[in-house]
Amino acid sequence: MTKSVNIAIIGAGVVGSAFINQLTALKSSINYNVILLSTSKKALISNNYNPLDLSNFQDSLSKTTQSSLSIDDLIAYLVKSPKPTILVDNTSNELMANSYPLFINNGISIATPNKKAFSSDLKLWNDIFENEGKDNDKFGLCYHESSVGAGLPLISPLKEMISTGDEVKTIEGIFSGTLSYIFNEFSTIESNNTKFSDIVKIAKDLGYTEPDPRDDLNGLDVARKVTILARISGLDIQSPTSFPVHSLIPKDLESVESSDEYMQKLPNFDNEMDELKLQASKEGKVLRFIGKVDVLANKASVEIAKYDYSHPFASLKGSDNVISIKTKRYPNPLIIQGAGAGADVTAMGVLGDVIKIGQRIAK
Ligand SMILES: NC(=O)c1ccc[n+]([C@@H]2O[C@H](COP(=O)([O-])OP(=O)(O)OC[C@H]3O[C@@H](n4cnc5c(N)ncnc54)[C@H](OP(=O)(O)O)[C@@H]3O)[C@@H](O)[C@H]2O)c1
Repeated sequence: MTKSVNIAIIGAGVVGSAFINQLTALKSSINYNVILLSTSKKALISNNYNPLDLSNFQDSLSKTTQSSLSIDDLIAYLVKSPKPTILVDNTSNELMANSYPLFINNGISIATPNKKAFSSDLKLWNDIFENEGKDNDKFGLCYHESSVGAGLPLISPLKEMISTGDEVKTIEGIFSGTLSYIFNEFSTIESNNTKFSDIVKIAKDLGYTEPDPRDDLNGLDVARKVTILARISGLDIQSPTSFPVHSLIPKDLESVESSDEYMQKLPNFDNEMDELKLQASKEGKVLRFIGKVDVLANKASVEIAKYDYSHPFASLKGSDNVISIKTKRYPNPLIIQGAGAGADVTAMGVLGDVIKIGQRIAK
């Protein structure tokens, strides 16, 4: 008999939609039956746990009168599923993230690109992984490849390296597509006179930044990704604000009210970044905004760092992420590079997680 898994998809936005498209095109010896699809307000819910027809899911969602379920009702619905169930959380919702231990302890597995659960308080991380993987009949599994570097093969290989006995020494990387673009344009091997504020403006106009660019430039998103990688590497990072994080927002502009006012005043602060760039170029280096985990020193940080022109980070183009992992087995670091955002690559990471979970729990 063909093995099956039931799937509840939360979120049908950029990643959620791409995920549904990839899942419905998937050819597999396991049946992946979607029994629930929810946005923040509306939901499609199968009455009898038979697969939903997702061929026109946006249209079906817009027409349905069914409201989305509370977390408690969602769990109550999923625990009665006759087949093992995977919750695919394609939101960035904090409440959903905080509820992962509940799902896992109720036997529901999780695949998600939502980094909130893994990069908030250490207690939540410990609660999530306390029972995860202990007994597939009792507890759900939890995979989150796309929570760092989108679909880049990073978390899964890193966990495999560690579980087979390798020892991580350092992880260093450019984890934000937005800040990758900004620094790759601002600080180049060929000298240029580009101003930091001009590049931020271009990045905003191109839609590369959050609506308020300060949400990228405060470094918190990178700090969250560093927190995840540090924890996987064995460091007990309390929270993404418990280690040094360099904010690229000038102090005086932290509290200006609107994004427009911030953009207007940013050119007044170009001098500081110009000086850093000049100093770096005198040393034959470029500036990059990086996250760093030093396992031996038990330290994590988010900072502006200088790299020789010959370093792989110096020749980065566009908005790629790049991650350098130095371990006992890889003294010459393993370099992983590619798009660290985007619907298809992120959804690919989530679907890869669903397949890995499906292979372990399908019945
Ligand atoms: N986009 C990328 O390139 C990328 C890359 C890496 C990781 N990620 C991560 O992937 C996740 C999704 O990103 P996205 O770009 O797809 O976001 P998005 O386009 O804003 O979509 C979010 C979806 O989640 C739904 N949602 C929000 N809160 C909900 C709730 N409480 N219950 C049910 N549904 C809820 C939204 O429904 P409504 O429309 O009703 O609000 C929407 O359908 C985020 O965690 C993000 O950090 C994204």
